[in-house]
Amino acid sequence: DASDIEKGTYPHYMLKEMDEQPGVVRKIVQEYSNSLGELTIDDNILEAIKEADRIYIIAAGTSYHAGLVGKQYFEKLARIPVEVHISSEFGYNMPLLSEKPLFIFITQSGETADSRQVLVKVKELNYPALTITNVPGSTLSREADYTLLLHAGPEIAVASTKAYVAQVAVLAIAAYVTGKSLGKGEDFDLKHELGIVANGIQTIVDSKNELEQVAEDYLKIARNAFFIGRNLDFCVSVEGALKLKEISYIQAEGFAGGELKHGTIALIEEGTPVFALATQEQVALNIRGNVKEVVARGANACIISMEGLNEEGDRLVIPKVHPLLTPLVSVVPLQLISYYAALHRRCDVDKPRNLAKSVTVE
Ligand code: G6P
Repeated sequence: DASDIEKGTYPHYMLKEMDEQPGVVRKIVQEYSNSLGELTIDDNILEAIKEADRIYIIAAGTSYHAGLVGKQYFEKLARIPVEVHISSEFGYNMPLLSEKPLFIFITQSGETADSRQVLVKVKELNYPALTITNVPGSTLSREADYTLLLHAGPEIAVASTKAYVAQVAVLAIAAYVTGKSLGKGEDFDLKHELGIVANGIQTIVDSKNELEQVAEDYLKIARNAFFIGRNLDFCVSVEGALKLKEISYIQAEGFAGGELKHGTIALIEEGTPVFALATQEQVALNIRGNVKEVVARGANACIISMEGLNEEGDRLVIPKVHPLLTPLVSVVPLQLISYYAALHRRCDVDKPRNLAKSVTVE
C-alpha cells in the first residue's frame, strides 16, 4: 500500500511509525489468530520450536534488544532454555551447541550481513533456522527453513521503533503458543492482554506534549544520559539508550540497576539525566533504591513506573499491562523522548549521521 510509505502530514517517518504501534500490535494479533480466534503459529514452526532443546537467538542492534526480551518469553512461557547472541560476535565465539538447537534470527530488514553470515554457517551445519522479519522474501527469510512475519508495514526511519514492538509481540505469541502446546508456562489470555497493550501504547502516543516536555527538562543541555532497569526493564533500558544515541547523538548507556554501584555511578554529576524504569513489581524497590543513590549525587532522575506500582513524584506512569508485556509499552515513551531530544538539537531524525537502515556489509 503506497500510503504506508508516505509521510502524509507527519514531519518525520519516525513519528509516523511510533504512532502506528498500537495498530501494529492489533494487526499482529489478527494475523496470528486462527478461525476460532485463538492465537496460533504455523504447525511446522510450532513443531520445530517444540523439538528444540535450546534456542539460539541471533540478531543485531535493536533486534538484539528484542531478543533479550524473547529469551525471557521462551524460558517463562515455554520452559525452553535460550541464549541470545550478537550476530557479529557469534562467528568468532561460537558457543558449545546443545544436541537439538533451533536458531532464531530476528531482523527487521532480513538483510543484515552479520546475521546472514551466521545463517550460512548454521545451514552448513544443518541446523534448523527460523527468521522473524518484517520483509517477506528478504534474504534471511529465503535462506531460513521457516519465517514468522512482523506485519509492521514498511519501516523507513533508520531508528527502529514499530519493528521492535512487533518483534517483541511476535516473540510473545510464538513462546505462548509453544508453551500452551507443551502444557507448560503461565496461564493467562495473551490475546486479551495484547489488546490492553495496544490501548496502553495509544495512551502514550497521545501524550506527546508531556514527553516533549520531559525531553526538554532532562536532555536539553545533557552531554550524557543513563537508563537503568532490572529484569525486563533492563532489556528496555538498553534499547532506550540506543534510541537516544542513534538520533540525538547524546552519549547514552543502558544497564542493569544493580551494576550502578560497580562503576557507572562514578559518572553521576549535578544534573546528569537518569531514566529509571520501574514496571517490574519484584524489583521496584531496588530500582527506587538506585534512584535515591543517584539523586543523592545530584542526578536529574526521571522515574517511569506503571499504574499500580507508581509513587508520588514519578515523572511518567505507563498504563497497567501484564508484567511480561511491559517492554511493549515502556519502550514507547523512551522512543518519543529520544525523538524530541533529537528535534531540540536539530538532528536529522529519520537519517541520522553515519547510520544505515540495513547494514549489508560486514
Ligand atoms: C542497523 C539499523 C538498526 C537495526 C540493525 C539491525 O544498524 O540502523 O536500526 O537495529 O541494523 O537490523 P535488522 O534489519 O537486522 O533488524
